[in-house]
Amino acid sequence: MASRQSKRRPAPVVRTTGRASRGAARPATQSSASPSKAWSGRFDEPVDELVKRFTASVSFDRRLSGADIRGSLAHARMLAAQKIITPKDLAAIERGMASISREIDSGRFEWSLDAEDVHLNIEKRLTALVGDAGKRLHTGRSRNDQVATDVRLYLREEIDAIRAILSTLQASLLDAAGKYSDVVMPGFTHMQVAQPVTFGHHLMAYFEMFERDRERLSDCRGRVNRLPLGAAALAGTTFPIDRERVAKELGFDALCENSLDAVSDRDFAIEFAAAASLVLVHLSRFSEELIIWMSPRYRFITIPDRFCTGSSIMPQKKNPDVPELVRGKSGRVIGHLVALLTLMKGQPLAYNKDNQEDKEPLFDTVDTLRDVLTVFAGMVPGIRPVPERMRAAALEGYATATDLADYLVGKGIAFRDAHEIVALAVREAEKQGCDLAELTLDVLKRFSGKIGADVAGWLTLEGSVARRKHPGGTAPVQVLRAVARGRKRLSQA
Ligand code: ARG
Repeated sequence: MASRQSKRRPAPVVRTTGRASRGAARPATQSSASPSKAWSGRFDEPVDELVKRFTASVSFDRRLSGADIRGSLAHARMLAAQKIITPKDLAAIERGMASISREIDSGRFEWSLDAEDVHLNIEKRLTALVGDAGKRLHTGRSRNDQVATDVRLYLREEIDAIRAILSTLQASLLDAAGKYSDVVMPGFTHMQVAQPVTFGHHLMAYFEMFERDRERLSDCRGRVNRLPLGAAALAGTTFPIDRERVAKELGFDALCENSLDAVSDRDFAIEFAAAASLVLVHLSRFSEELIIWMSPRYRFITIPDRFCTGSSIMPQKKNPDVPELVRGKSGRVIGHLVALLTLMKGQPLAYNKDNQEDKEPLFDTVDTLRDVLTVFAGMVPGIRPVPERMRAAALEGYATATDLADYLVGKGIAFRDAHEIVALAVREAEKQGCDLAELTLDVLKRFSGKIGADVAGWLTLEGSVARRKHPGGTAPVQVLRAVARGRKRLSQA
């Protein structure tokens, strides 16, 4: 039977473009026993064409076909083990599903709008291939617990793939941080030069953000990985099912404990979208910095030409399109989070068709996240600092003023008093148009007699970063330690 199907024309067909013909639907003359009948005996007339298109989800939920087939096979094996269907039926279902998988993989499967969604398309094809056994598959099950299972299976796999790409991005940050552990740049607060930091330290800040993102995705996975199947439509089923067996076969950690909750809540998808939004927020901040650093006014870094684009009118331009687009994509993913939250809010128990709207935002969140992470993981190894530009900028903003105050504290002056002394010294340097390090010792002594020749080592950028050598500090030695810790964390994951 599969070969008959395979000889047909190859194109998968989903008619989604047909104009709705309200009132002009097919006359209700087809007998209720007709195999081509598109509506059940409960209805007097076929569904309106527009309604059919409006309610169908096959154009997008067919992406769940792999999960749907896996879920159905586990369900069928359980039904057979529980003697709810015969071993013969199970064999037929397994055979049919194997052909369907091949048809889908090769693009020969004919998706039909009449069958509404991925679940009914596959079930219909199964019945066409293996007859009555196909009709028995849905025993003790509903599309409500089926779809919730499929989405969880799909998402679990995607979370694993996304965590792996995140690790690659983190590994490239570790490499760069190790390489640039002692490159000094200005650290900013309020977008103003604040204190010197090392470029490696700055990059490691993003490593930390992505590490928390990876943790969040892992936490979320734990709640995604629970089995709804067995909840049936909403109340459970009268058949003697074995949910534990299905959970084990499908690799779920636990069962959804309440049937009403199992078919209705999509909090696991919302949680994923929230975790994804945070990844995008982090990437967006990183992008923003790359864009600023690349601008000719800063010129702190370069990124390879293959991640830039030119302007159609201004020949001199090299634009940071990749980071700009990633920054823009954050809006899209945050939008999906809001869409999912709004979709859930106000839904009474249990399943409602509203939930069909969970798929497109979820799928697009997954696709976008995978893309942006992949592109970033490719771009980070190409980021090159321009140390002399970073240094020049760090020297412009009295970045070592706090160091001078700390020095004075070391000489027995209370911090608040030291703060005031340095403020006056900064004013003087400003007046002279030079850095603190360029003020002569005599001038410095005017502000405090405690200042001696040993102050010089406190006013240099290198001295400043090297002294911040406690865990979490910007000193090159700590950056290297943080990189080593990061490598260990990544290898354990
Ligand atoms: N396509 C549907 C969805 O995504 C499957 C569940 C349909 N259930 C129902 N009772 N109409 O939610």
